Amino acid sequence: MKIPYIHIPVVEIPLGKNVKLFMKREDLVHPEISGNKYWKLYFNINKYLAKNPEKPYIITFGGAFSNHIAAVSALGKIAGIPTLGIIRGEELKDKWRENPTLSFARKNGMNLQFVTREEYRHKEKLTEFLQKEFPQALVIPEGGTNDDAVEGVKMMLNDQTKDFDYLCTAVGTGGTVAGITKFCEENQKVIGFKAVSDSSLENRISQLTSRENFSLIDAAFGGYGKINDENIRFINDFKRDYGIPLEPIYTGKMMEKIFEMINKEYFPENSKILCFHTGGLQGIEGANMLLKKQNRNLII
Ligand SMILES: Cc1ncc(COP(=O)(O)O)c(C=O)c1O
Repeated sequence: MKIPYIHIPVVEIPLGKNVKLFMKREDLVHPEISGNKYWKLYFNINKYLAKNPEKPYIITFGGAFSNHIAAVSALGKIAGIPTLGIIRGEELKDKWRENPTLSFARKNGMNLQFVTREEYRHKEKLTEFLQKEFPQALVIPEGGTNDDAVEGVKMMLNDQTKDFDYLCTAVGTGGTVAGITKFCEENQKVIGFKAVSDSSLENRISQLTSRENFSLIDAAFGGYGKINDENIRFINDFKRDYGIPLEPIYTGKMMEKIFEMINKEYFPENSKILCFHTGGLQGIEGANMLLKKQNRNLII
């Protein structure tokens, strides 16, 4: 993986309020390995390939609509490395063709192994087993979060990001917010918007970064992966008003929460707020598939 030559734009989201809101469009870093996924995989892959494994092989984990699974499969195809995805939910074994994320992964050549939710819960055991079975393989944890991922997130920070008072990102497994916290300027405050209701996140993030200049805010809106009508309306209005697409699991919920906080005057006057668009737009198709089945409004 190379550092992309494209310049990642930081764009203003004009609000006409007493704070300034900007977005860094990390979603544009790569068409298929998008946003934070690119940077979380960056050192993982480069360090692994630098060891010159004879037969490189990547194994990773994810749910049915996982952005990480989509990204790793695309990376495997581009780099010519075989990939294996351990997918949560045995019931998907006969239904993966209906799922846009899993179909995309298969099209990229990823082998899919479906496991029960119970087996998936014991991922550490599975990882141990797989690493023994395939000693030459790179086994990347769910969501790609590990120390090398945190290191990679450093690349999302540069001169463009230094002058902001607040840095905001969506949180799933915590690697992205940990990287931003670890490598941002000392005076900057980091806010992680939790897409998952997981009380262990705070500790995990503290372990990944040695700093404490972050806070977490619940932005799960009823639970991970749950999408309410207001979430859909917000995403569609945001795209219409600012021309920026958001997906409903992470970035849509984060932006909705930030708007709510700005309206409630959470941020002091004249604050400069930067939120990271962490990509994952491939998830819109899968979300729309479910919404259509429920006869609900779709994400445009
Ligand atoms: C689009 C998007 N944003 C944010 C996140 C959260 O990142 P992390 O798992 O590092 O907390 C994810 C999950 O990887 C994601 O797919």
